[in-house]
Amino acid sequence: MTPSASEVLAPAAPSVPQLLDRCRDLVRPALTEAVDRLHPWLGEMAAYSFGWCEVGGGPAEASGGKGVRQALAVLGAEAAGAPRRSGIAAAVAVELVHTFSLLHDDIMDGDQTRRRRATVWKTYGTGPAVLAGDALFALAVETLALTPGGPAGMRLLSAALSDVVSGQADDLLFAIRPWTGPERVRPGEYRSMAERKTGALLGCALSLGPALGGAPPATTAALERVGRHAGTAFQIVDDVLGIWGDPDMTGKPVHGDLRERKKSYPVLAALDAPVPAARRLAALLESVEVPDEALARRAAALVAEAGGRTAALAEARRHLAAVERGLDELELAGPPLGGLRALLGFLVRREA
Ligand code: IPE
Ligand code: IPE
Ligand code: MG
Ligand code: MG
Repeated sequence: MTPSASEVLAPAAPSVPQLLDRCRDLVRPALTEAVDRLHPWLGEMAAYSFGWCEVGGGPAEASGGKGVRQALAVLGAEAAGAPRRSGIAAAVAVELVHTFSLLHDDIMDGDQTRRRRATVWKTYGTGPAVLAGDALFALAVETLALTPGGPAGMRLLSAALSDVVSGQADDLLFAIRPWTGPERVRPGEYRSMAERKTGALLGCALSLGPALGGAPPATTAALERVGRHAGTAFQIVDDVLGIWGDPDMTGKPVHGDLRERKKSYPVLAALDAPVPAARRLAALLESVEVPDEALARRAAALVAEAGGRTAALAEARRHLAAVERGLDELELAGPPLGGLRALLGFLVRREA
């Protein structure tokens, strides 16, 4: 069919990978400049984690992270009509905090693979990985302190950090709670935990650039709420990928959450279902302290049979609907939100 004149003239909307690449390219010089200020040993661990180098500092071809938070920061700032430098400073700060949280999270979770490579603690040792995480955290704070609008940004970032830490505390405490009975973790408790451990930083990513650029508090608060819903959905999808994802795509091991007794959403939803598979799943999970791989595989099959996968994806879509409603209500000074909407949808539909 011959395209109409408007189809010929209108530039094609960028795909999500193109958006992520554009934002990564925009942020990379400032991120590199910040990481270059670190002690060289800590800077190497940071660069290894970003996929910029191999152990010893040699050049690498590794893919690094998806760069979701930096893209949210850039697109959030653009949507609000904030200066480009505000979006870039926000992106640097949130990407540093994210990487810091991953370095420490992999130690807490005992995970050996991340971003298709050995984790930083596995490669360099636990003490060095803790310190590299601390260094990235300090660098994020310094980045904001040196940016115009810093105090408003610092308030957002410090509030997000408190939430991330308290969310991580619940994540760890949930792992030692029983699977069933009055002490079991309820889906509502999970939502609150996920909103803090993951949603808080996505909320910060979306609102930080506008805050640095002097956007009205009502705008930053609305963007923050949108990001929290997006982050909760993102974490639920992370849980799904942690059971049924392809490790070549996610770059992370499968069944880690099951082996670590993590109360992931699909498992909680499955245990709550009034079906025989839920009772078999509970019996299986309660039968051992640390499930081996064969047992984890059987548990994963029962979670799916009891509807845990379907329920998790439905819950993620509910949060995405709240994201859409939040965006509809926003009155923003910047360009249309097509790219931002596409990116937020990708957070739920992704496979990596
Ligand atoms: C992983 O985040 C940690 C979670 C909050 C689920 P990402 O999936 O964004 O990790 P990278 O940055 O792409 O590796
Ligand atoms: C990561 O949560 C959240 C933070 C790092 C704060 P998870 O432990 O569920 O994420 P992955 O699966 O290891 O990336
Ligand atoms: Mg983890
Ligand atoms: Mg964790």
